[in-house]
Amino acid sequence: MSEGTIPPVIPAREHPVIAIDGPAGAGKSTMAAHLARRFGFLNLETGAMYRALAFKAIDNDLDFSDEAALVELAENTRIALEPQLEGNRVLLDGVDVSRRVREPDVTAAASRVSVHPRLRAWMVDQQRLLGRRGGVVMEGRDIGTVVFPDAEVKIFLDAAPEVRGNRRYRQSGPAETKFTEQAKATEEAMVRELKERDERDRTRAESPLRPAEDAVILDSTSMTLDEVLVAAEKIVRDHVTEAQLH
Ligand code: DC
Repeated sequence: MSEGTIPPVIPAREHPVIAIDGPAGAGKSTMAAHLARRFGFLNLETGAMYRALAFKAIDNDLDFSDEAALVELAENTRIALEPQLEGNRVLLDGVDVSRRVREPDVTAAASRVSVHPRLRAWMVDQQRLLGRRGGVVMEGRDIGTVVFPDAEVKIFLDAAPEVRGNRRYRQSGPAETKFTEQAKATEEAMVRELKERDERDRTRAESPLRPAEDAVILDSTSMTLDEVLVAAEKIVRDHVTEAQLH
């Protein structure tokens, strides 16, 4: 472009980007799925992309600290997210890995591979492409701060670690087995694992988990699920016009 030329006006998105960030187990996926259904948007779980890549790294016996190898792996990988009524179906090179990527070894690996700046840059490029037209509820750790700093709506959903660990635990198996000593130890281990993952996500040098300055912080520690969903819907309506929602 020659000097003095007015740069082209990039058209505004017709529909908004709703960014939901926060630590593990805060209820981001439930909130994202609810808002997406409510407004007819796509819900995209960016954590599933890190999980899919972490799974492929495990499968290829890669060292989680080898950034160059992980980036090369990513560049030869196709990750697709298919929004469902609840959460996303995850396709890794065309294969459905939705269940496998939720298992504990992949969960821990995802948190480790996601510390690498160049790998994050690859993920962020993909995520910006997915959300470029708007009409998406994108959930993760850095959506409001890095992926879409211009998101129309930013919610940072938090809750006390014990509450998040307990919610995860209750989702994890049949209720009748949950009053034994062993069950208590399992719950404690889950809270511990969650705290470790939080610590890694919050303290990494690149795009650490933190609320964007203009995010609305919602602490769900003493809220019911219904209260959280009502509050989220109100935050959306407070930040976008009715026309942007249709
Ligand atoms: O949301 P989740 O639990 O599925 O995410 C798995 C891991 O991926 C999490 O420990 C941190 C990482 N992650 C990230 O660094 N940035 C995102 N936008 C989403 C997830």
